[in-house]
Amino acid sequence: MFNLMPKIAVFSETTDLKQQADALAQHLSLPVAENPDDYDYLLILTDQALALKKNGVKTLPLVIDFLSGPMTYRRQHASLKRETLARALGLKGHSTDKIVDATAGLGRDSFILASLGFHVQLLERSPIIQVLLEDAINRALPDPQVGPIVSRMHLCKMDSIHWMQQQTIDMRPQIIYLDPMFPERSKSALVKKEMLMFHEVIGDDPDAGELLSVALTCATKRVVVKRSRLSAPLLGRIPSFTMEGSSSRFDIYLI
Ligand SMILES: C[S@@+](CC[C@H](N)C(=O)[O-])C[C@H]1O[C@@H](n2cnc3c(N)ncnc32)[C@H](O)[C@@H]1O
Repeated sequence: MFNLMPKIAVFSETTDLKQQADALAQHLSLPVAENPDDYDYLLILTDQALALKKNGVKTLPLVIDFLSGPMTYRRQHASLKRETLARALGLKGHSTDKIVDATAGLGRDSFILASLGFHVQLLERSPIIQVLLEDAINRALPDPQVGPIVSRMHLCKMDSIHWMQQQTIDMRPQIIYLDPMFPERSKSALVKKEMLMFHEVIGDDPDAGELLSVALTCATKRVVVKRSRLSAPLLGRIPSFTMEGSSSRFDIYLI
């Protein structure tokens, strides 16, 4: 674990991507790596995808890929009945409720909801995760099967607390979903390497409690919080009811 924020730089695999790398580095206020070994993490531009790589370890780079085998399996097997998340959000086939995923992260939960036919507004505040997500959505758009799904994922690059505070009464979404990072997740022996890397780069979400408080004043129907199975409810606030997923729990707050 890094005690301080890790040193991150942008790196292009080939010289013809250099201009794009310079623009990305400027956008993220990161350096361009002249000597990649000087950094803990590299945001690598390749012809195929944008990848986040931890230096000096064998772990595979983090690439968000909605066309990957596991995501294809997830989307092909997703159903309203099978997806606990969809049931926790109270979604029915004809539902036109506005759904906001206020902690978009790697976009996996939103992708499942979009695979079920729903439009989802994804809010993400980490600039590095924003560019990884945007890259993944753009790469998937031309695909005949996945393109229509990712076109239902509407990415908004901003802090959710700020976004929710800006919503006027008629703009408020019916459903808000929260899956913040928790310190205890990183300590779990079971934590996946990918999640660990994610955690090192973006850190904890110490304001997760505030996120819940604001969400409860913004959503008009329900707020759903994903928690690890044994953790206490966020802010100690008892939910209206809970649902157990395969590896997590959903705390459902009816408004
Ligand atoms: C555990 S991840 C979410 C994973 C996601 N559910 C998925 O399926 O990939 C939490 C994400 O929420 C983001 N986040 C936390 N608080 C936020 C806030 N107030 N506004 C926007 N994004 C936030 C973090 O930057 C991080 O990317």
